Amino acid sequence: MNRNDIRIGLFGFGVVGQGLHTVLERTPGLRARIGRIGVKDRSKTRSLPPELFTFERDEVLDDPALNVIVELIDDADEAYRIVTGALRRGKAVVTTNKKMLAEHLQELIELQRQTGTPLLYEAAACASLPVIRNLEEYYDTDLLDAVEGIINGSTNYILTAMHRDAVTFAAALARAQELGFAESNPALDVEGLDARNKLVLLLAHALGLVARPEDILTVGITGISELASSYAREKGLVIKLVAEARRLPDGGVAAAVLPTLLRPEHELARVHDEYNGLITQSLFTDRQFFLGRGAGAVPTASAVLSDLSALTYGYRYEYKKLQQQSARALAPAAAEVDVLVTFGQGHAPERADFSRIHEYFHSEQQGYYLTGTIGLARLAAAAWLRQPGISVVRLPQPLRAAQAAPVASAAEVEAADCPA
Ligand code: HSE
Repeated sequence: MNRNDIRIGLFGFGVVGQGLHTVLERTPGLRARIGRIGVKDRSKTRSLPPELFTFERDEVLDDPALNVIVELIDDADEAYRIVTGALRRGKAVVTTNKKMLAEHLQELIELQRQTGTPLLYEAAACASLPVIRNLEEYYDTDLLDAVEGIINGSTNYILTAMHRDAVTFAAALARAQELGFAESNPALDVEGLDARNKLVLLLAHALGLVARPEDILTVGITGISELASSYAREKGLVIKLVAEARRLPDGGVAAAVLPTLLRPEHELARVHDEYNGLITQSLFTDRQFFLGRGAGAVPTASAVLSDLSALTYGYRYEYKKLQQQSARALAPAAAEVDVLVTFGQGHAPERADFSRIHEYFHSEQQGYYLTGTIGLARLAAAAWLRQPGISVVRLPQPLRAAQAAPVASAAEVEAADCPA
């Protein structure tokens, strides 16, 4: 594809689609024009001439005048049909649909190989942050041990608004929707599923592991209790939704998306509003930190633009870490995590699930909490994890390999009242 002759078949003209139009108008280095736009809603008034739009998928996919497909819709099933249809027709694709990618990643890697046609998706993980191509290319030989980050803009926007600006959850979510940060189904954001889908992409490009999204322990921000928030304030900690994937010493990988307490000096504690932050940890470079806008029309479109530019020099993902078979598999049974669990009377977590309990506090007024160490697989399987009235937040320590011999819960501390 020639830099001066990019003819885009676009699907979707929502927040990011309009952002892409804006970005293309202001990009002198690339001569790209939107030739046709596939949309669903026949009743919407749109800002571009009506003859550009069509409601027929194949009119775009089969148009020989278009040399790249840009897929920016929110329906993951339809996105899958568009993306696979385009690849099978030999048309390069740029997509932002992380849900579709996470659900079909192995198949899409295979389809790219079979068709020899590239599929790029820089904007699908951390929007404007250039993480995928960096993980793929810059870190192609360095041994990455971990990626850890705030990779959902909406939840970070909500947590920032609640804790810094004392805005209610509902008001903060409504604002995140107005600003175009949230998914059309915002449960994907607040339940941690969008972060989980992005973590699937990071796992593939950072650690060479294609995981099924449902195999990653995921807890969102809707259950964070008042008691967990006051615990954080009391200890001078910040609550963020953190996605983490870490290579264990035996080659397995621990991965989870959890609300997490961070010390104020942690890089991610200073990531505010819709910004995302990603820390890479590697053998040679140690810690590195990416920071940037993780949602929004123009920042997301800027990553789409970068993918379009990359296609003009023949770029495609080689999935280098997969070739190197650098990581074996998700190994939640070999990993453990330290957590704060808050609960009320009649909603207690199963104490026997914990390999160590560090503290156990109760207060008639405010409820109960315990802090302890629990195996990642044990936590994921715990029926109490999803019970209303129980809230789980990770303590500041990273995921780690499980200790062989659990210490008995003799160190448990009982106290009459919870700290204010
Ligand atoms: N809903 C997503 C987020 C959009 O808030 O991060 C960007 O992927």
